[in-house]
Amino acid sequence: MKFFLDTANLADIEEAASWGVLSGVTTNPTLYSREGGKLADFHAHLQRICELCPGPVSGETVGLTRDEIVREGEELAALAPNIIVKVPVMPEGLAATKCLFDKGIKVNMTLCFTVPQALLAARAGASYVSPFVGRFDDISEDGIAHLAETVQAVNNYDFGHDVEVIAASIRSANHVVQAGLIGCDIATVPFAVLKNLVKHPLTDRGLESFLADWEKVKNS
Ligand code: E4P
Repeated sequence: MKFFLDTANLADIEEAASWGVLSGVTTNPTLYSREGGKLADFHAHLQRICELCPGPVSGETVGLTRDEIVREGEELAALAPNIIVKVPVMPEGLAATKCLFDKGIKVNMTLCFTVPQALLAARAGASYVSPFVGRFDDISEDGIAHLAETVQAVNNYDFGHDVEVIAASIRSANHVVQAGLIGCDIATVPFAVLKNLVKHPLTDRGLESFLADWEKVKNS
């Protein structure tokens, strides 16, 4: 499974990239707003992310018509070779995805909550399909069960182009474990979750005892 960071925070992206485990970044309007982002700085901010992470970096469109989404998508795609245009699932979004696909621009179709939404996204030409896990859990549904259905359904078909499923709206290390067991291609995770993935109390305890014993060796 590949790990993407779900953030617009430059320092977090830089640190995760330095660990050698970062394959991509996903952003959305909420995440950019959380960083105090201004409209005038949006494109420069995405370019900076693309410099920090050479993998796919999703920047989201906010237009509601096919033509608006395509225009925004073309502007975003021109920012850097690794930009992926993130488009919400809706009829105009599907139509825009088809146009962008025909222009050779890669799309991450977001806000996927059902199997048909994911299949339609892939059929329209999306290179990435993002089913949301945590938002299902938030309304007392089983987000991981929904993710498993989506992964299975997408993997049942050859869409004529590569399609990868991104487990999105990840809230915990356990979500990542379950996404990995399902065989999901990618998990996009908040930095707090990524940091948790590295940790285990037995690792800390083991390291502590190894270092204490090495002190004895050094002093012998
Ligand atoms: C997907 O790419 C979204 O940016 C993200 O995963 C949404 O997560 P949230 O439900 O925590 O807002």
